[in-house]
Amino acid sequence: MRTATARAHPNIALVKYWGKRDEELILPAAGSLSLTLDGFATTTTVSLDPSAAGDLFSLNGAEASPAQSERVTRFLDLVRSRAGSSSPAVVRSRNEAPTGAGLASSASGFAALAVAAATAYGLDLDRAELSRLARRGSGSATRSLVDGLSIWHAGDDDASSFAEPIDGPAMHMIIVTIDAAEKAVSSREAMRRTAATSPYYAGWVDSTAHSLREMTAACRAGDFTRVGEITELNALRMHAAIEACEPPIRYLRAGSVAVFDAVEQLRADGIEAFATADAGPNVVVISRPADSAAVAERLGGLGAVRVVGAGPGARLIPEED
Ligand code: PMV
Repeated sequence: MRTATARAHPNIALVKYWGKRDEELILPAAGSLSLTLDGFATTTTVSLDPSAAGDLFSLNGAEASPAQSERVTRFLDLVRSRAGSSSPAVVRSRNEAPTGAGLASSASGFAALAVAAATAYGLDLDRAELSRLARRGSGSATRSLVDGLSIWHAGDDDASSFAEPIDGPAMHMIIVTIDAAEKAVSSREAMRRTAATSPYYAGWVDSTAHSLREMTAACRAGDFTRVGEITELNALRMHAAIEACEPPIRYLRAGSVAVFDAVEQLRADGIEAFATADAGPNVVVISRPADSAAVAERLGGLGAVRVVGAGPGARLIPEED
């Protein structure tokens, strides 16, 4: 096939990926666990164009920046070398979430690109192989190949570092967007700086491996409360390690902290909700599905609120145009 379109959704980690053991292969320092969402999709079409001078990448209808295009070309080079092709491609991508706002658009972006590019270049890959391929674009994309809850095994080489499904309690995520602007320090740079300069990095990696074991057990037991407790703890530990970088990086703003405060108050009032945040100011709150409307209503004054649930892993869709 020379043209393929895929759709993928972002995922939000309950146990975070923060730090690489291998920069080139994007092997993480520890495993992680996330929920693939049913909103904020990325839809990407890859069309081979053997007569073009080079790849062309457009994002939301406009030509992408040189840095974004370079990242896509580096990813396509991997696919081309496996497929034995030298053909450039036209890549058209549409994001339903604001790019670079800590809502993991790189996860849905590279998951959709992996599926569409593998198909367009004629590679026949299974889900684990697609998950490994997506990993090379952006670590968190590894998990967006999986429906719903997903565990990314850190692995110790390219073959063993991929994501697969895991059972767990039903939950909703209430996304509170504080600021949709592009973040000042990319997660790639901030991870490098954390590993190189944060005195808490080693503690972060050790405690994450431990949290992942506890989280896996809590998921299998369907224990929403424990899942929530580990989620909030793990997020705060990640931000503590990041804030201790030199020079420091602080992703959480006053508005983010206000959401953590409100979530604490919700719990005091008897509604079980727990907060997490990625590399940006926006906060994601998890609750049982039956409580999400009440949680969203309470958090409504603190940012733009959207309730999402578990969504599908990246897959091919019929051509749109
Ligand atoms: O895949 P990246 O480089 O965008 O890193 C994602 C890092 C976090 O979103 C902060 C955590 C995670 O596990 O998704």
